[in-house]
Amino acid sequence: MNQHVFEQFKRLVYDASGITLGPQKVALVNARVSRRMRILGIEEHAHYLQYVTEDESSHELVLLLDSISTNVTSFFREPAHYDVLRKLIHEWDIAQQPRFRIWCAASSTGEEPYCLAMTTLEALGRRHPDFRILATDISTSVLQRAREGTYAAVAMEPVSESLRKKYFRVQGQGPERSFKVTDELRNIISFNRLNLSAPPFPMKGPMDVVFCRNVMIYFDLAVRTRLVQEITRLLKPGGYLMIGHSESLTGIEAPLRVIQPAVYQKV
Ligand SMILES: C[S@@+](CC[C@H](N)C(=O)[O-])C[C@H]1O[C@@H](n2cnc3c(N)ncnc32)[C@H](O)[C@@H]1O
Repeated sequence: MNQHVFEQFKRLVYDASGITLGPQKVALVNARVSRRMRILGIEEHAHYLQYVTEDESSHELVLLLDSISTNVTSFFREPAHYDVLRKLIHEWDIAQQPRFRIWCAASSTGEEPYCLAMTTLEALGRRHPDFRILATDISTSVLQRAREGTYAAVAMEPVSESLRKKYFRVQGQGPERSFKVTDELRNIISFNRLNLSAPPFPMKGPMDVVFCRNVMIYFDLAVRTRLVQEITRLLKPGGYLMIGHSESLTGIEAPLRVIQPAVYQKV
């Protein structure tokens, strides 16, 4: 892929998703775009670019973003956030809060929203307030896998035996063994496509907690600012925002105070 075509892909991806592709991403873009081109039987990068931009349905653009986005995630990643969540749910539950709304803003293949659901259900014990999770992502393929909710045994290692027994069903045997989430867990979560770089978002809120982790690293300050301000608008006063531990809100004006690293509260 020559520099000129890369710059055009870069602009297209930025406009459609807010993802900034730095010069170190040329090889990655090349590899991922080439995969789509092989499927379509297109040989020139410039022709594929034209194909994407001329597709009025935006279907190919969605598939291009699917192939460009990095979806690395895991069960109970950055576990300190789940300790905070457990404590909050407990406090709000003692205060007899009747309704809980959690938004997982870049949910990838589902490990994160399922962990949010399990943590909250465990913290609530036998009580059944009105509790829902919204899980969103820009990638339709990861959303599909999240809805399906089937995970290889190796991915399940951070999930305790008791949580596995309660919220998953084992499928297959030996190396083929996988774990599928129960309907009880899946039905708490609504999975929807949402582009975080294009607020305002259609949700009404107010949200009690927003997990927006390990996605802002792909955005520049302008996109991060728009996003954090919109998340703050959707949070209830006293609600919490969790970001990835390698991310920062430096330079962003928003009514948030730091509680601990990567944990913010709306003031
Ligand atoms: C590295 S994963 C992080 C997943 C999870 N939050 C975690 O911390 O493990 C980043 C996710 O952000 C999604 N993403 C990237 N740009 C996005 C955008 N503009 N809007 C919504 N999701 C986006 C990707 O599709 C990917 O699933």
